[in-house]
Amino acid sequence: MQQFRTLFVAITLALTTLSAAFAASPAPAEGQNGMVVTAQHLASQVGIDVLKRGGNAVDAAVAVGYALAVVYPTAGNLGGGGFMTIRLKDGKTTFLDFRERAPLASTKTMYLDKDGNPIDGASTDGYLAIGTPGSVAGFETAREKYGTMERGELLAPAIELATEGFVLEPGDIASFANGNAMLAKDPAAAKIFLKDGKPLELGAKLVQTDLAKSLKAISEEGSSAFYKGEIADLIVKASEANGGILAKEDFEQYKVRELAPVQCSYRGYDIVSSPPPSSGGLVICEILNVLEGYPISYLGYGSAETIRLMVEAMRHAYVDRNTALGDPDFVENPVTRLTSKAYAEEIRSRIDPYRAGVSKALTINGGTESKETTHYSIIDKDGNAVAVTYTLNGSFGIGKVAEGTGILLNNEMDDFTIKPGVPNLYGLVQGEANAIEPRKSPLSSMSPTIVSKDGKPFMVIGSPGGSRIITITLEAIMNVIDHGMSLQEAIDAPRIHHQWLPDKVYMEPYALSPDTLRLLAGMGYDVGIDPDWTIWGEAAGILIGGKNLKEIEAGDGARYYGAIDSRASSGAAIGY
Ligand code: DON
Repeated sequence: MQQFRTLFVAITLALTTLSAAFAASPAPAEGQNGMVVTAQHLASQVGIDVLKRGGNAVDAAVAVGYALAVVYPTAGNLGGGGFMTIRLKDGKTTFLDFRERAPLASTKTMYLDKDGNPIDGASTDGYLAIGTPGSVAGFETAREKYGTMERGELLAPAIELATEGFVLEPGDIASFANGNAMLAKDPAAAKIFLKDGKPLELGAKLVQTDLAKSLKAISEEGSSAFYKGEIADLIVKASEANGGILAKEDFEQYKVRELAPVQCSYRGYDIVSSPPPSSGGLVICEILNVLEGYPISYLGYGSAETIRLMVEAMRHAYVDRNTALGDPDFVENPVTRLTSKAYAEEIRSRIDPYRAGVSKALTINGGTESKETTHYSIIDKDGNAVAVTYTLNGSFGIGKVAEGTGILLNNEMDDFTIKPGVPNLYGLVQGEANAIEPRKSPLSSMSPTIVSKDGKPFMVIGSPGGSRIITITLEAIMNVIDHGMSLQEAIDAPRIHHQWLPDKVYMEPYALSPDTLRLLAGMGYDVGIDPDWTIWGEAAGILIGGKNLKEIEAGDGARYYGAIDSRASSGAAIGY
């Protein structure tokens, strides 16, 4: 019997090792001189063209940012905000925060009724949901500080795509499907994104004349066209006419912050990612620090033991996220403590080896709706790497365009704590540190991340996905480093997620086998598929030196590999 068991274990291990070779994902895209991975193929091509013309990764990131605002309006934007993580060829890393800021007239209780209860839709649906946009200032700062090309050159492709239009392919139609009903309700948006009130059809050409005009103004005058000129005036006018509180002063005083990225190491790999006002990098580091103490590779992808440890690490990290973190200009974020190996050790000592933890016991301090953000990853011939995640928050933001601008506006204010204890769009239950205050940025989960090894870039990665951005990015990194998957497999592999509250383990269909589920249930875990959440992000990544760790270590891979999530409808990884 013992002999049989040993044989069984040996065969299983052999099959597990072999299975990587037979996984269902296609091979990642290859490149020798550069790689651009975005959620829309035309934008990826814009980025590659910039690299081919001699621009660096930051130039390409700026051109892609403007292009996505045209060809991927569900999340690409001028009216939202985001983050850019940069690793230059000399190893210097930096981070640009161009997230939205709360308008000057905002107040802590602005989304509550007279009884102190949240007003349905107030922080998500109308002009009151808008934070002062940061994307244009972010791209211009990136270009001025780290780019090499003229503004006009980087805006030209976006202007052309908006002026001439682009033909809608099935992936574009799919990304509009979520927004058509909402866009139809706003006359200015409906004029652009629908035809006679009906959704645009496959093969139709989407021309955006007003957006082209706004892009041209930015091209000619720089970001002051957006923050000091007619664009700001038109957005403020639309806001005033529709119950919003945006004022010209909000635009005039908007500033990009250049911050030090959060840094940590995982099994000898160096990770740089988003610092507050994002929780992303910090939470990824906290989870990785905890998991570093366990033999995850040996325990295996998707095993009950691996999942249990991941869930417990996530539970502890998300309670810290949701209770302790906020905009660094307003709250003291315990970054050093939360990313320390000593704190990870403390968390490990609190993990029960036999039973599921209980989220409610960890309180230290305190929909079917579609959701969209977008992430892109770029590397150039010199090894400069850029990871950008930017967003309108919900798909198409508030779904409204300020008349005359062609610009869709965000509903980022919902990322604040509307009321302590009340879940937001992503089910996040948050506390006072993330309360609304004028000029403050709401806490984000966006995690543009760059991993390096021995002083060389190793991986560029990130994703949309609301609160799941963090675990999506984390799992892609673990799948490459711990489980030896190719980049495409690592991104495509089914995911799990836990965010402290609700105290549930969410899984994608087929992520866990029935017997794994039984083992986890036996330990007290509530595991299931979330019927309200069908999209688990669209990761976009680059791996350097091989399509998987084995190839990288053997030194026999091509230079760059790129992969866009198989969950993405219109994206492309293009190398050259
Ligand atoms: O900053 C954040 O964390 C959210 N506003 C991101 C929203 C998002 O990822 C929606 N996409 N799926």
